[in-house]
Amino acid sequence: MKRTKIKDILQKGKANETVVAKGWVRTKRGSKNVIFIALNDGSIIHNLQVVVDVNNFEESLLRDINTGAALSVTGKLAESAGSGQSIEMLAEQIDLLGGSDPDKYPIQPKRHTLEFLRENAHLRFRTNTFSAVFRVRHAMAFAIHKYFNEKGFNYLHTPIVTASDAEGAGQMFRVSTLDPKNPPLNENGEIDYNQDFFGKATNLTVSGQLEGELGALALGEIYTFGPTFRAENSNTTRHLAEFWMIEPEMAFYDLNDNMDLAEEFLKYLIKYALENCMDDLQFLANRLKQEEKNKPQDQRSMDLIEKLEFVLNNDFIRITYTEAIDILKKSKPYKKNKFQFPVDWGIDLQSEHERYLVEKHFKCPVILTDYPKDIKAFYMKQNDDGKTVGAMDVLFPQIGEIIGGSQREENLEKLEKRMKEMDIPVEEMWWYLDTRRFGSVEHSGFGLGFERFILFVTGMGNIRDVIPFARTPKNAEF
Ligand code: 4AD
Ligand code: MG
Repeated sequence: MKRTKIKDILQKGKANETVVAKGWVRTKRGSKNVIFIALNDGSIIHNLQVVVDVNNFEESLLRDINTGAALSVTGKLAESAGSGQSIEMLAEQIDLLGGSDPDKYPIQPKRHTLEFLRENAHLRFRTNTFSAVFRVRHAMAFAIHKYFNEKGFNYLHTPIVTASDAEGAGQMFRVSTLDPKNPPLNENGEIDYNQDFFGKATNLTVSGQLEGELGALALGEIYTFGPTFRAENSNTTRHLAEFWMIEPEMAFYDLNDNMDLAEEFLKYLIKYALENCMDDLQFLANRLKQEEKNKPQDQRSMDLIEKLEFVLNNDFIRITYTEAIDILKKSKPYKKNKFQFPVDWGIDLQSEHERYLVEKHFKCPVILTDYPKDIKAFYMKQNDDGKTVGAMDVLFPQIGEIIGGSQREENLEKLEKRMKEMDIPVEEMWWYLDTRRFGSVEHSGFGLGFERFILFVTGMGNIRDVIPFARTPKNAEF
C-alpha cells in the first residue's frame, strides 16, 4: 500500500479507512495496555496520533519506538475522542524504519532554547518551530516567483562569481585557486591574479544588480533570486555573510513606479502567507506570545497575525531622508540623548533611528527616499540638488531596512564622473556603461533581503533562525 502524507490524513481522512503513514516519533506516552505515538512527517505542523494496543505487538518493537525514531504504520482511521485532533489511527502494523537512542537524541520532547537548536541545526527541522519556519520560507519563495511570473517579469540567473563590486563597499569573499602559501607575484610584489583561474581577481557576488540591469534594458522587466555574499564583520541578529536576495530591475520605471512595485510586492507576499500558511503562522504567533510573556507590556510585539494584516491593509508612509532627519531631531529620544548614534544630515541611519521612525513615530512601514549621495552607491540617479540621489529604502517594524533600491543614473557622463569620484574602475566596467551608450533609458530596481523578510513574516528574532544553515563570522558549521 502507498503511503499517505499526514497532512492528507488529517485533512481528508475518513473513519474506517486503512492507510499507511510514515514519519518520525515526536512523543510516546501511555499506560500498560495502550500507547499513544505522536507521528510527524513534516507535511503539516500537526502530528498524527497513533493508538497502539500493547497486546497486539512484540514488546521489543514497542521498546524501540522512541522519540526521533522513524516508523511506517498501517492502521485504520477513527474519529478521535481526544481534543485537538479529529482523526487518529489505530495501529495494525508497525515497522521500525530507523531506530533512535533516546539517551543520545538531542531533540528531547521538551522546550529547547533557540541557541541550543542553532548548534543542532542539522536536527532542528524536526521541531515544530523550525518546520513551521521552513514551510513558510518555502511558500514565500514560491510566491515570489508566482508574483513576478504573473506580472511578466523574467527570472534572470546572474553570476555568483564576479570581478566587479556592485555595491562598491569592498566587502567581498575572494574566489581563487592560487596556492595561498605561495602565490605568484608580479614585478611590484603583488599577487599576480593574471595567473589565477579566471585570469583576474574574482569574488563572490554581493548583488546581481549590475547584470540585472543589462537584462532589464532588453527584456524590460527581470528579477534575480539568488545567494549573495558579504564579508562584513557584523555579528547582529539581522546580518548574514551568505543571504538570499530578490532583485527586480525594470526599464521605463522611475522612483515612484519603483516604490509602487515594492509596496505591491511585499503586500502580495504577506497576503499569500495569510491565505496559505495559517496553521504555521498561528503556531508561530503563539510561540511569540509565550516567548514574550515575561516582557513588560510595552515591549511586547503586536500579535503576529494582526501585524501581518496591519501591514497588508495600510499604505506605507513615503518621506525623504531630509524629512526623516528633521523628525528624528525633534524626537524625544534625540532630545533626551537616548540614541546611541548621532543624528545629522549626511549620516547613514542606524537601525535605532529606522526603528524609531517605523515603530514609534509612524507606527507603519516607511519608505525613505532621496538620501545623501555620499552614503549611497555610484549607480544611483543624481538629483538636481547635487546633494542627494534617487534612493529608496523600505523600513519595517522590528527589522529596519528590508529593501534597498533606487532609480539608476542613465546619463553616461554623469555616471562616469561619479564612478571616478568614487574610485570605481571605469574601464573594467565597459560592459555596464555600454547600456548607457546604446539606448539608455530611465530604469529602476531594488533588492529585498529574503531572510529579513522571513524574519518579519515568522516573527522570529534572529536571522540565523530563518535560513537552514547560517553563515556568520567564525561560523560555517554544517
Ligand atoms: O541595500 P542593499 O545593499 O542593496 C543592494 O544590494 C542593491 N544592489 C539592491 C538593488 O537595488 N538591486 O541590500 C538589499 C537588501 C537590504 O535591504 C537587506 O534587506 C538585505 O539586502 N541585506 C542583508 N540581509 C542579510 N544579511 C546581510 N548582511 C544583508 N545585507 C543586505
Ligand atoms: Mg541598503
